Amino acid sequence: MHIITLTTQKGGAGKTTLATALAIAAQEAGETVAMFDLDPQRSLLAWSEARQGDTPHVEVFPADRIAQLPDMVRSLAGKFSVVILDTAGADNTATHKAMEAATLCLVPLRPTRLDVNAVKPTVQAILRGGTPFAFILNQCPPQPNNTRAAEVATGLGAIGHLAEPLIIQRADYQDAYAVGQGVTEYAPSGKAADEARRLWGWIARQSKAPSNRNERHAA
Ligand SMILES: Nc1ncnc2c1ncn2[C@@H]1O[C@H](COP(=O)(O)OP(=O)(O)OP(=O)(O)O)[C@@H](O)[C@H]1O
Ligand SMILES: [Mg+2]
Repeated sequence: MHIITLTTQKGGAGKTTLATALAIAAQEAGETVAMFDLDPQRSLLAWSEARQGDTPHVEVFPADRIAQLPDMVRSLAGKFSVVILDTAGADNTATHKAMEAATLCLVPLRPTRLDVNAVKPTVQAILRGGTPFAFILNQCPPQPNNTRAAEVATGLGAIGHLAEPLIIQRADYQDAYAVGQGVTEYAPSGKAADEARRLWGWIARQSKAPSNRNERHAA
């Protein structure tokens, strides 16, 4: 079972947006997906309430059971093949337990100095726990000749793995969220849908790649 935790203390980096895009891309690839909202903002729950249909399973994780989160999530292995945990942009117990439970932590960030600086405490917390992780560069400039994302990608490569592909700033991500869909449902032949499918493919391959360990460390 894949247990994927979207995490970064930086607010607005794209945790919830990418969680929803990935959940639907995974489901379309044949996975059975459960999602847990660990953020008091309840953005994931709001997405599921806007959604037509019963899958993926979306639930607010009970606040009084946070200490048992890793065991409870792992116990779902017979029922779901993918569990996605959407955390708050905060350094709290729920976030730490979600990192501990994960088979892979995903750390979204925008290609800006502010986001790169802000990601360091999150990376250090993941490294302390030892869960494999990867960055996702999100909301990259759409202009093909803009080198900003590529420059940040090179810098991040010295700290940890960078998921592929880079995710571009596209209205499809915002519009799909608003109607409770994944981008692959909202505009199946769109560029955002293609990114989401490729990103899920990259993530699915990681569990099979023995070299994906946290061998590179945050400064
Ligand atoms: N690739 C993208 N293209 C366009 N807009 C995006 C993209 N990713 C995220 N956004 C927008 O950026 C904003 C923040 O995204 P989101 O809420 O997913 O971030 P978050 O990390 O979950 O935030 P929080 O820390 O508050 O939970 C939202 O308005 C969302 O629609
Ligand atoms: Mg969120």
